[in-house]
Amino acid sequence: MTSNEGAKASNIPAIRQRKSSGPPVVMVTAYDAPSARAAFAAGVDMVLVGDSLGMVVLGYPDTMHVSLDDMVRATEAVVRAGPSCPVVADMPWTSYHAGPERAVDSAARLVRAGASAVKLEGGAKRLGVVQSLLDAEVPVMGHLGLTPQSVLAMGGYKTQGRSPGAAKMLVEDAIALADAGCFAIVLEGVPTGVAETITAAVPVPTIGIGAGAGCDGQVLVFHDIIGWAGPRAPRFVRRYADLERAAVQAIVAFASDVREGRFPTEDESYSS
Ligand code: KIV
Repeated sequence: MTSNEGAKASNIPAIRQRKSSGPPVVMVTAYDAPSARAAFAAGVDMVLVGDSLGMVVLGYPDTMHVSLDDMVRATEAVVRAGPSCPVVADMPWTSYHAGPERAVDSAARLVRAGASAVKLEGGAKRLGVVQSLLDAEVPVMGHLGLTPQSVLAMGGYKTQGRSPGAAKMLVEDAIALADAGCFAIVLEGVPTGVAETITAAVPVPTIGIGAGAGCDGQVLVFHDIIGWAGPRAPRFVRRYADLERAAVQAIVAFASDVREGRFPTEDESYSS
């Protein structure tokens, strides 16, 4: 296995600097110690404890079911794996929507769980919250476009910024987040051209998912990369392995060994 340790940024200011120098920023999600160990060993630039954990591993229908306790527990598990890069934790739905004070309390739990920064969804309407978090010395990553915590308001998981007016609003939101002090901005589910315009307009790295190749970095969900997220994947996912198939094959082989008396052998047992 190879890693690109040399290219890695080891703290949040170094990630911010990657706008002007260095290769594209690589971020993957992790929700537990084994996935975090794999991500750290692979030499990614950032690990995101995404609230996608609600759908990917907890079986919820959407990210709106994810609680702050879910995120704290997952962040602690990821950090126990021994981070070699910054760990960003998602602020779940309702943990920051009620205003700055609640947001700072929520972020404090994630930072005490080991997060180096938090990510929250939304643009201009979140500026008060972003400012309060930055005033509390918590680095903030923005998230614009197809923001899953707005699935009800958006009427489904739809590409955002397709009309000229909607694209203009996204650009303005991105500039507002960067001006407020966000160190990076995730762009999810936006047309390539819109992501390119935003990337050119802001002085902080944009990290795309379903936003084309023009961003300053890319993020994917760990389980999508390794083929552990069910048979259907969004168009923007590239699968690099099929671990779900490998897992089924391994368990079928175990079951057949047990049923046919091949497991366990003496070597796999203890003598008195
Ligand atoms: O929760 C998540 O995994 C995310 C990424 C898709 C950016 O927010």
